[in-house]
Amino acid sequence: MKTVLVTGGAGFIGSNFIYYLLRTHPEDRVVCVDCLTYAGNLSTLKDAMENPHFVFYKTDICDRDGIDRIFTVEKPDIVVNFAAESHVDRSIESPEVFLRTNILGTQVLMDACRKHGIERYHQVSTDEVYGDLPLDRPDLMFTEETPIHTSSPYSASKASADLLVQAYARTYGLPVSISRCSNNYGPYHFPEKLIPLMIANALNDKPLPVYGEGKNVRDWLYVEDHCRAIDLIMREGRPGEVYNVGGHNEMQNIEIVKLICDYLHKPYDLITYVKDRKGHDMRYAIDPTKIHRELGWLPETPFRVGIVKTIDWYLNHREWWETIISGEYRNYYERMYGNR
Ligand code: NAD
Ligand code: DAU
Repeated sequence: MKTVLVTGGAGFIGSNFIYYLLRTHPEDRVVCVDCLTYAGNLSTLKDAMENPHFVFYKTDICDRDGIDRIFTVEKPDIVVNFAAESHVDRSIESPEVFLRTNILGTQVLMDACRKHGIERYHQVSTDEVYGDLPLDRPDLMFTEETPIHTSSPYSASKASADLLVQAYARTYGLPVSISRCSNNYGPYHFPEKLIPLMIANALNDKPLPVYGEGKNVRDWLYVEDHCRAIDLIMREGRPGEVYNVGGHNEMQNIEIVKLICDYLHKPYDLITYVKDRKGHDMRYAIDPTKIHRELGWLPETPFRVGIVKTIDWYLNHREWWETIISGEYRNYYERMYGNR
């Protein structure tokens, strides 16, 4: 029986990970720490709250005393850090909070791990730390050896955190691991990101804002496959190692948007090409050979299955996302898309 402390568990991937853990390791205790920013939603954890093996703390990962108290009480064996500011567009608008949470928050957590002792600290990182790849070189993919080369304040903050995690491993001998995953999709994805935004707008017959020419490529992975990878790495991955996680599922943004229109029987007329994102990464593609070879991980959900499950989830959980898009999101949307 392990106590697993999950930060950022009220967000998209963290909440999916909590449900994955409660389902696949019912003997473990799961402690969630989340300060509930605009991206954190307590209603997402409604079912987990009823599980006696689950406990929730509304705490900021940058709050050193608060984090120390939680470690003292809960004595986690494993810490998995999902808590982050995660949206590239917001990082372009206001970088500061990204540096605070993504870098300093990581430091606070690792200091608590050093003080209290843990079996493993796992950092949930991203393929964006590798920068981007050209569209005309499909042979190129990110490996764990690809140099760090960041584009946005978001990716720079995540890369900085990764370097700090590696420094804590080397300097203090902290048993760490890092996963760098490609774009996830699935339930509880905040509707500021491409797939849920397009689903929500299409369902409301609103314009579908595609950046630039829509030719940018992302390597999409169903969120549950990512959760399974993290669970494997934190328990069986070699300490000190980085593991890339990806689905071998590269698609252009415009293909995704058209697919959503087709499934929902919405006209392509809704598609509106808008001003491109500043510094927009062209293509991401992950080589997941290492995690496959060492831990036997492979993606299990084909995109055609995962995307239908995802769209159906949004159709069946209108209340979840309609509540979200009626709050702070409206101001954000106006700022981001109003004059684009
Ligand atoms: P998200 O924005 O949906 O959720 C982030 C969560 O962290 C929210 O619940 C928020 O309240 C919480 N949080 C933010 N700042 C906090 C703080 N200071 N203290 C405590 N909690 C805080 O993000 P996501 O898409 O679920 O991403 C989770 C992690 O996975 C991030 O580290 C991200 O960089 C990484 N990642 C995401 C993707 C993706 O496609 N979404 C892919 C690879 C890696
Ligand atoms: O690759 C992993 C990363 O994937 C994670 O680290 C990030 O946390 C996560 O947000 C995601 O970053 P992206 O920038 O790739 O995701 P986003 O959903 O914001 O955009 C996906 C693509 O769609 C990107 O090329 C920009 C484009 N886009 C996005 C939005 C929101 C549009 O064309 N229109 C939009 O309105």
